[in-house]
Amino acid sequence: MADLPPELIEALRDARRVVALTGSGISAESGVPTFRDAQTGLWANYDPQELATPEAFARDPELVRQWYAWRRELVERARPNAGHAALAELERSVPEFSLVTQNVDGLHQQAGSADVVELHGNILRSRCPVENVTVEPGEAEDLPPLCPNCGSPLRPDVVWFGEALPAAGLEAASGAARSCDLFLSVGTSGLVYPAASLPYEALENGAIVAEVNPERTPLSPSARFSLRGRAGEVLPRLVSAAFG
Ligand code: APR
Repeated sequence: MADLPPELIEALRDARRVVALTGSGISAESGVPTFRDAQTGLWANYDPQELATPEAFARDPELVRQWYAWRRELVERARPNAGHAALAELERSVPEFSLVTQNVDGLHQQAGSADVVELHGNILRSRCPVENVTVEPGEAEDLPPLCPNCGSPLRPDVVWFGEALPAAGLEAASGAARSCDLFLSVGTSGLVYPAASLPYEALENGAIVAEVNPERTPLSPSARFSLRGRAGEVLPRLVSAAFG
């Protein structure tokens, strides 16, 4: 990729409050397919937008459970990459840092990020739809997994299409976006709201917005800097140029 803009390196070094919003592109280099990528193997003929819904779970819980078991396996095999590691290092390098992710794979935490807002939940956790309590992996061994308290079939603890995001997480993310000096949008197509509105909240507050993505996105025309490249290559260079 091209040289990093010196203005961006300087802005990162001077920033007091930095927010990074990540999407599935940052985990692509870890082998977790992006949500909109073609599905493979047994699942090639299914549309994720029709499996990741409360209606699909009500209609055919076993089908949805099996699809999530397959996706969970991909996530369990994945390891964080240099992009995740660079964001964990950035957290340690700037005075205030918020990492907001749409990913459900837990790879930021594995890379050492301490403070992660998971806007779309976590695929390794389950949730009882009746009691609305979360169940950690290993707590429910039955197949299909059942709530240890009430015996209802558990669902993955992720936000499905048509569902509301966790209010506290969204509020924290929005507050951080509205008060930051620099906002990094990494590996997200910017198509799914409300997460996609966060960089615009930052812009309204006068923050510098930079995007890291090999492709153009709807945010590109508004971003001060568009770094066209992969997160695993661009982020380590950026962080080391600013703080190395
Ligand atoms: N580095 C950075 N970006 C990348 C890389 C990479 N190595 N590889 C792909 N990308 C970019 C793509 O160009 C695309 O813009 O990552 C983006 C992935 O887009 P989506 O698949 O739409 O993923 P995301 O933006 O995370 O989707 C948001 O939608 O389906 C829901 O809940 C799901 O959290 C997901 C949300």
